[in-house]
Amino acid sequence: MWQTVRYEETTSTNDICKQLAQSGRDNNAVIALRQTAGRGRLGRSFLSPEGGLYLSALWRGCERAEVMRVTPMAAVAVCRAIETLCSAHCAIKWCNDVVLHGKKLCGILTESSLQPDGGADWLTVGIGINVATPALPPEIASFATSLAAEGYSVDRDALAEEILCQLSALRQALATPNDWRYDYRARCLNVGKPVRLLRGGGETSALALAIDDDFGLTVRYGDGQTETVRSGEVSVRGLYGYTE
Ligand code: BTN
Repeated sequence: MWQTVRYEETTSTNDICKQLAQSGRDNNAVIALRQTAGRGRLGRSFLSPEGGLYLSALWRGCERAEVMRVTPMAAVAVCRAIETLCSAHCAIKWCNDVVLHGKKLCGILTESSLQPDGGADWLTVGIGINVATPALPPEIASFATSLAAEGYSVDRDALAEEILCQLSALRQALATPNDWRYDYRARCLNVGKPVRLLRGGGETSALALAIDDDFGLTVRYGDGQTETVRSGEVSVRGLYGYTE
């Protein structure tokens, strides 16, 4: 179902997908072993050294209500793929980090061309996984890990193929999130814990209460007020570090 292009190195697999989208393509996957200009959420860069798997999938047409489900769906797909190939249980740190043994293993960035009605003409979901990164860059070493560092050996092509297979299956279920939302909720390690919300240079403490039906994180502040925060506006950390 996916037509796949492979690169040893590229700027960003999301960029390649965007170019493919602009030339009218659909159902493409782009895989790279290194990126020179990897992008993360909220305008951050995403370090993409050798040893990682950098994968973006492009498809056309997504209803407004489904656009916000794509990133959480991809997080579930990555968890299921890693479990299938490595028997390693992965968790999700809201909203879109896949976590192994309390450390970040994978980040996900979805980019799209939104239409006036809120649906997407096309979207690309970009997934970066530390598979066997020999030494994680110092900037991320304190909170990130790789499959190899946790004792799991997996072939990157096999992992890419399994992720694309899980994505295909879940994509069919974008309209019926009840089928897989329970899995996202069960894996989300923030719920029930104190969190720090990082937003616009400021930081607020709260208790994470629940994942709502649209994958927002509902939190309660010290004064008893509640709020549901959405991806794209806020980062979440544990009280003391990345998750805890
Ligand atoms: C994050 O953790 O902030 C999201 C990181 C997403 C990285 C992936 S790697 C493949 C794709 N290409 C990019 O430039 N970014 C995404």
